[in-house]
Amino acid sequence: MEKKCAIEMKGITKRFGQVTANDSIDLRINRGEIMALLGENGSGKTTLMNMLSGIYQPDEGEIYEDGSRIYIRSPREAYEYGIGMIHQHYKLIEVFTATQNIILGLNDGKMDIAAAEARVKEICSRYGFDIDPGKKVYDMSVSQKQTVEIVKVLYRGADILILDEPTAVLTPQETQKLFRVLRNMKEDGKAIVIITHKLHEVMDVSDTVTVLRKGKYIGTVNTADTDPQALTDMMVGHAVSLNIERPRYPDPQRKLIVEGLTVVDEEGIRRLDSVSFTANTGEILGVAGISGSGQKELLEAITGLYPVKEGSIRFIGSDGSETELVGKTPKKIRETGIGMAFVPEDRLGMGLVGSMGMTGNMLLRSWKNGKGALLRKKDPEALANRIWKDLDVVTPGVDYPVRRLSGGNVQKVLVGREISSEPAVLMTAYAVRGLDINTSYTIYSLLTEQKMKGVAVIYVGEDLDVLIELADRILVLCGGRVAGIVDGRTATKEEIGLLMTHFDSKESGE
Ligand SMILES: Nc1ncnc2c1ncn2[C@@H]1O[C@H](COP(=O)(O)OP(=O)(O)OP(=O)(O)O)[C@@H](O)[C@H]1O
Ligand SMILES: [Mg+2]
Repeated sequence: MEKKCAIEMKGITKRFGQVTANDSIDLRINRGEIMALLGENGSGKTTLMNMLSGIYQPDEGEIYEDGSRIYIRSPREAYEYGIGMIHQHYKLIEVFTATQNIILGLNDGKMDIAAAEARVKEICSRYGFDIDPGKKVYDMSVSQKQTVEIVKVLYRGADILILDEPTAVLTPQETQKLFRVLRNMKEDGKAIVIITHKLHEVMDVSDTVTVLRKGKYIGTVNTADTDPQALTDMMVGHAVSLNIERPRYPDPQRKLIVEGLTVVDEEGIRRLDSVSFTANTGEILGVAGISGSGQKELLEAITGLYPVKEGSIRFIGSDGSETELVGKTPKKIRETGIGMAFVPEDRLGMGLVGSMGMTGNMLLRSWKNGKGALLRKKDPEALANRIWKDLDVVTPGVDYPVRRLSGGNVQKVLVGREISSEPAVLMTAYAVRGLDINTSYTIYSLLTEQKMKGVAVIYVGEDLDVLIELADRILVLCGGRVAGIVDGRTATKEEIGLLMTHFDSKESGE
C-alpha cells in the first residue's frame, strides 16, 4: 500500500562552523507509519530533526509538507505545520501541574483550565496515556514527565511527532507502554519518527528504518526485511561483530568487601539496606535492578560521595592489607593511594565540565557540583588525543567544548578518561546509555580488557541481554536490598527479572 508522504526533505545541509552535521540529506516521512532514525553518535539525527522542529534552519535544501514547500523558522511555526518534537531534555516547569504545563504559552493566559483539563483527558483516553492532569511535575517520575511532553505536543495539534531517544530513560515496562501509545497514534494516521540506539526497539516498534552515517543519508529499509546485524553494518559502513567475549581471569582475588551497607537519604528512607557482596579482581560484577533500586547510592557510597549509615566497605590492597573506606571522602580515598574510577549516570552534571574541551577535562574531575579534583597533570593533551582516536570521538578537536558534542560522544570522553586512570576498581553506571551499538561494543571490550588486567569492574546496567553476556556475576538489587547474586554464565533473563521485582527473604550475600 502506498503511504501518504507527510514531510519531504530534499538536499538538506547543516553546518556548525567546520562541522557538517547534515550533508545533502533526502528524507521522506509518511503518515500512518513509525519510522526509526538510526545512526552512530554524531551522525546528525538530532540536528536533522531539529530542522523540522524549528530549532535550526537548513543552510541548504528544501522542506515540503504534503507537496508544498514550507519554511519552519521557529518551534511555534513548526506547531503550525503540525510538527512536534519531544526532546531528550524536558522543559517542564516543576511547580506547575500537568495541564498548566500543557497549555503554557497558549492563548496569552486567557485560559479555561476546566476545558483544558477535559481536552487533556480526552487526548489521554484516545491514545492510552496515563496521567493525572492535576499532578505537579515535581511529583512525577521521568516517564510521567515524558508523557506530559507528548500530550503537550498533541494538544497543540501535532500530527507529525518526533521523539529523540525517548526510551533512554525508561524501564522496559514503560517503554512497552510508550510503544502501545505510538502504535495507537500511527493507527490514527499520525507520522512518527523515533530516534533510538536500541536495535531490538527498532525491530519491535518501527515500520521503516532510515540510516544516517557521518551526516549522510544511507538508505531506508522496511523493518520486516531487515535485522539488527544488517542495520548495524549499514550504520557503521562495514561488518561489525555483535558478540561479547567473556574470558576468564586466571586468578581472581577479593578486592572490595562490602558488608551490611546501609544508607539513608535526606527524607530518612533506606536507599540501601544491609547490602553485602564482594567484588573481585579480574571480574565484571554486573548490577541489575529496576531503576532507583539503590544502584546510584551503591556506587556513590563506595566512592565516598554518599554518607554511610551502617556497614563497612573494605578495600584489599595488592599486599593483602585492608583499608576501611567508610567515612573517607573521595579525596581522602585517593590520597590513601586507592585507585577508583567512576563513570556516573549524570555525565555533564557530575563527570565533565561542559565548557572545557577534552584536554581540560582530562585534568579535572568534577564529582558533585563543581567541587573539582585535580586528576593528573601529565600530558593531558596526549591522553585526550589518544581517547579521541581510540574511541573515535566525533569532535573537531581536543579543545572543542564537550557540551557541543553529541550525547554519545560526551560519554566516550568520560569513559576514556576514567579507564586511563588505571584504577584498581572501575565502576560504571549505565555506561552505554545513549551510545550507538558500535560504540557500546567498544565499551564492552574496553571493560573486559580492564578486567583481564586484573581490575575489579562493577557494571551497573539496564540491558539484561548484555548483562548476561558480559558479567561474570550479577548482583540483583531490589528496593535497596540484595535480592540475589547469580552466575553470569548460567543465569537467565527470566531469573534476573524475577529477582528484580520479587524480593524473597532468601539470605543475601554469598
Ligand atoms: N549546536 C551545535 N554546535 C556545534 N556543533 C554541533 C551542534 N549541534 C550538533 N553539532 C555537531 O553536529 C554533529 C551531529 O550531531 P547530532 O547531535 O545531530 O548527532 P546525533 O546523531 O543526534 O548523535 P547522538 O546519537 O550522539 O545523539 C556532531 O558532530 C555534533 O558535535
Ligand atoms: Mg542526538
